Amino acid sequence: MVYVFLKKGEFLSHSREDKTLADEYINQHFAQEDECLLAIRRQLKTDGKEGINVGPHEGKLLQFFVRLHKVKRIVEIGTLYGYSALWLARGLPTEGMIYCLEKDPENFIKARDLLKQSEVSEKVEVIQGEALDSLKLLTKKGPFDMVFIDANKAGYLSYLDWAEENVRAGGLIIGDNTFLFGNVFNDRSQAHLPSNETQVQVMREFNQRLANPLKYNSILIPTHEGMTIAQKL
Ligand SMILES: C[S@@+](CC[C@H](N)C(=O)[O-])C[C@H]1O[C@@H](n2cnc3c(N)ncnc32)[C@H](O)[C@@H]1O
Repeated sequence: MVYVFLKKGEFLSHSREDKTLADEYINQHFAQEDECLLAIRRQLKTDGKEGINVGPHEGKLLQFFVRLHKVKRIVEIGTLYGYSALWLARGLPTEGMIYCLEKDPENFIKARDLLKQSEVSEKVEVIQGEALDSLKLLTKKGPFDMVFIDANKAGYLSYLDWAEENVRAGGLIIGDNTFLFGNVFNDRSQAHLPSNETQVQVMREFNQRLANPLKYNSILIPTHEGMTIAQKL
């Protein structure tokens, strides 16, 4: 079986054709996008940023965890235009809340405006700034049921430090891109995209910490990008 690494949102498969078909099949049957989600993707495409966001099936997977685990309070670190945030917010109950952290002022404005047009806008707060600063301020609103980490890779260990303190026992910590484009298990020269040594070390340690069975019930889901999901014990 030959596995290939493709762009974010694409699928592990035997071939590009299989990948496209599998991707389309899952998205059509399990992860259909409505006009709000499509509007976000259209804007990402227009701005040359499509593919940095999670794919529809990954969004649906995140929403599945929110519903399955009856999650009420989420922190998302790294929001871009709000695509994953919308999938997550739609899994929340009426009284649920997601705090979305975004550093880039232009991304923040796009996310805020696009999410405002959705039916779940009351459950979403987009916060602009350096995630570590925003997290400090959010501490008083915790504990949280879920933290989704999808920002700068070098920051993953600091985000995990915060999440370990601020997610309730039984809550979920989820990290995206945890294969780091193949760098966590490949020689860096063999990886799908090169990453610097610090990023590789950070991501390996991030996964290693979450793999600790004394602290977490956890797994790295082999999505194309790798998504590590851990329930705090
Ligand atoms: C992979 S994108 C997020 C994609 C989004 N979760 C989605 O799937 O729709 C990463 C985002 O993190 C933001 N980011 C990077 N470093 C950050 C930091 N230190 N604090 C807050 N946000 C940061 C980037 O500006 C970018 O918009």
